[in-house]
Amino acid sequence: MKLFSSVNDVTDLKKFIEEALILKADPFAHKSLGKDKTIGLVFLNPSLRTRLSTQKAALNLGMNVMVMNLDKEGWALETEDGVVMNGTTVEHIREAAAVMGEYCDILGFRSFPKLQDREEDYSESLFNKFVKFSGVPVVSLESATLHPLQSFADLITIEEHKQIAKPKVVLTWAPHVKALPQAVPNSFAEWMCKAQAEGMIDFVITHPEGFELAEKFTPGAKIVTDQTEALKEADFVYVKNWSSYKDYGKTLPGAESWMMTNKKLEGTNNAKVMHCLPVRRDYELSAEILDGPNSLVIKEASNRTWAAQAVLKEMLEDLK
Ligand code: CP
Repeated sequence: MKLFSSVNDVTDLKKFIEEALILKADPFAHKSLGKDKTIGLVFLNPSLRTRLSTQKAALNLGMNVMVMNLDKEGWALETEDGVVMNGTTVEHIREAAAVMGEYCDILGFRSFPKLQDREEDYSESLFNKFVKFSGVPVVSLESATLHPLQSFADLITIEEHKQIAKPKVVLTWAPHVKALPQAVPNSFAEWMCKAQAEGMIDFVITHPEGFELAEKFTPGAKIVTDQTEALKEADFVYVKNWSSYKDYGKTLPGAESWMMTNKKLEGTNNAKVMHCLPVRRDYELSAEILDGPNSLVIKEASNRTWAAQAVLKEMLEDLK
């Protein structure tokens, strides 16, 4: 594996989940695989889970790890091509990525969208430049439109906790105080649609009118704007806010009725509730769910390590 930026980079989804669960059972079995190899984790945006779980995964494989908050610790970065750099930016992504590729065998990169220009964000231009100019294998630590390490961990968590062979998984929009990217729901939808195509789950998305995700990430998903209807007999409910794709970056004020509560869970098959975190308690998702027996949010965050370790293991094997 040279690139992990989407479910399309995975050749066998079921085998990949199995691999992650084998690593979870025996985390240090491949401790010598990463000996004398270095991973650089480069962040342009904040992170708790992605940063620590990927670091831990690399350490479990015996790798050296370097972490850089490029937005705060690096030179002001120019990302556009053809710019005369006589302003505030000091270093171009072309040189910055190439230099980091000299120091590292594998790189991870996080860059959020600006949510101003849909075409620009959905072109993944910055992430693609980083991949191109670094010249080494790259793991997405969340790009403008996708967050594959999160979605892989989510699917692992569903596989671990499912009570029936083909559970119903519902992605529900939730309220939020600010405009958030579509990366997590796009990615979750992309992975769940693949899982559905392979007969592993039934997948439903529910959101208010105007919050449809980009169609390329939702092939085969059932889309319902009535949340109560969508939640019926759900086995897993994945809660997440996202801003509008259609009216790009716009939010929906006063949508508090979309918050998941224990009352809403009554219509489900005693559904397990998931969220990628961080979460706004009692605004995006009720504290009663987060603190109750149906919440999987911590187990989901824990599985981030095994998702990252499965990806890094495959990349290390292909470095040889
Ligand atoms: N879910 C997730 O990616 O968390 P962080 O932004 O803290 O890494």
